[in-house]
Amino acid sequence: MARSTLALLGGEPVRSKPFPPWPTHDEREERLLLDTLHSGNWFRYKGNKVKQFEEAFAARHDAKYGLAMSSGTTSLEAIFCALGLEPGDEVLVPSYTFVATATSVIIGGATPRFVDVCPQTLNIDLKHAEECVSPRTRAVVVVHFAGLPCNMDEVMAFAERHNLYVVEDAAHAHGARWNGKGVGSHGHMGAFSFQASKNMTAGEGGIVLTDDEQLLSRAFSRHTYGQRPGHPWYSHHVVSTNLRMTEWQGAILLAQLERLDEQMRIRRQNALLLDEAIANIPALTPVKSDDPRAADRAYHLYAFRYAPGVEGLSRERFVQALQAEGIPCSIGYPVPLYKQPLFQHVQHPPDLPSYNELELPQVTQLCNEVIWLTQNLLLGDAEDTRDIIRAIEKVLANADELLQKAG
Ligand SMILES: Cc1ncc(COP(=O)(O)O)c(C=O)c1O
Repeated sequence: MARSTLALLGGEPVRSKPFPPWPTHDEREERLLLDTLHSGNWFRYKGNKVKQFEEAFAARHDAKYGLAMSSGTTSLEAIFCALGLEPGDEVLVPSYTFVATATSVIIGGATPRFVDVCPQTLNIDLKHAEECVSPRTRAVVVVHFAGLPCNMDEVMAFAERHNLYVVEDAAHAHGARWNGKGVGSHGHMGAFSFQASKNMTAGEGGIVLTDDEQLLSRAFSRHTYGQRPGHPWYSHHVVSTNLRMTEWQGAILLAQLERLDEQMRIRRQNALLLDEAIANIPALTPVKSDDPRAADRAYHLYAFRYAPGVEGLSRERFVQALQAEGIPCSIGYPVPLYKQPLFQHVQHPPDLPSYNELELPQVTQLCNEVIWLTQNLLLGDAEDTRDIIRAIEKVLANADELLQKAG
C-alpha cells in the first residue's frame, strides 16, 4: 500500500462522511405511533400493539410465547426470578458480556460463577463450563455475543448432562438462528434488548421468550405487580414490580421487526467483505464460526482481534488512528466482567477466590485484543465497507510513523 500521512498526524482521513445513522425509521413507525396516539390506548392492556409484537417476535424466533418488558436487563431479571433459584445456587455466566447478564442472576437470588470464553467466537467455552459445574449449579446463561449464535446443540447436551436450566441472552442477536431455529427459543428462556444501540430498538425495551407455560406465568408475575394470568387485577401473589412495555414501544417495534430481515441481509453482506479482507491481514483475526449451523447470524457488532504489539503499535493507538481515519470503533469491554468494581461486594462461590482475584486466561487476553465496530457501520454499501478496510490497511502500513512520534 502507498504511504500516506495518517489522519492522526495531520494527514487526509480515508473517510469524512458519516456511516448510516442509527436508529432508522420511516412512515411505518409514524403511522403506528399516530395510531396509538389517536386511539388513546397507551397502556398495553388497553391496546393491542404490544400483544401483536409479542406474537410476531416470538413466531420469528420459533418460540411459543413472548412477554414484552421494559428492558433487556429487566427481561433477564424476570427470567432468573422465574427460575425459582435459592441462596447458594450457582449460575454459569460467560465472562465476556454486559454487566446485566450477571447482575440479573444476583437479583434472582443466586451466585454467578464466571466461565471463560472461546477466542474464536467470544461465546461461552463449554470445556471450561464443565470444570465450573458444582453440586450447587442450577443454570447456565449463554450470550450470543455480537449476534453470533452459540452452539446450542452442545449447550443443551451439556445442560441435560448436569440437569441445568438454559437461559439465552440474545440481546445482540435479533433474528439470528442456530441450525435454522431462532435464538432465544433453544433453552428454557431467552431475553432480547431493544435499547437504543440494538438491531431493533424502541429506545428501551426487552422481551422474554419461552415455550414453558409455567416459567412464562412466573415471569409474568414478576413483570406486573405479582399478578397471575387470568386472575383479577387486584390479586397479587408474589412480591414484584412493574416491568411492562408501553404501547408506544410496541408500535415502534412492530415497524422495526418488518425491517429486520432486510437489514440483517445488508449487514451480513458487508460483514463477509470485512471477514475476507481481515483474514488476509496477519495482525488481525475476524471473530467468526466456521460451523454452517451458525451461518444465520446477526451482527450487533462486528468484532475482530488485533494481536497485541503488532508492528509495535498498541491496540489503543491503533483504534485512535482508525477513529481519526473516520472509522468509529472501540476496544469494547476493558476488563473481564468479574473484575468490575461491583463484584468486590458480591458473595462469590465458596470454593473460589473472590471475583476480583479470579484469573481466566482467554477472556483476559481478549479484553486486550478485541476491537468493535457498531452495527450501523455495516448498513452502508460495499464502498462504505471498503473504507473500513482501506483505513485499517493505511494505519498498519504507516504504523512506524506513529511509533516514531510516540518515541
Ligand atoms: C449482552 C447484553 N445483555 C443484556 C443487556 C441489557 O439490555 P438493556 O440495555 O436493554 O437493559 C445488554 C445491553 O447492552 C447486553 O449487551
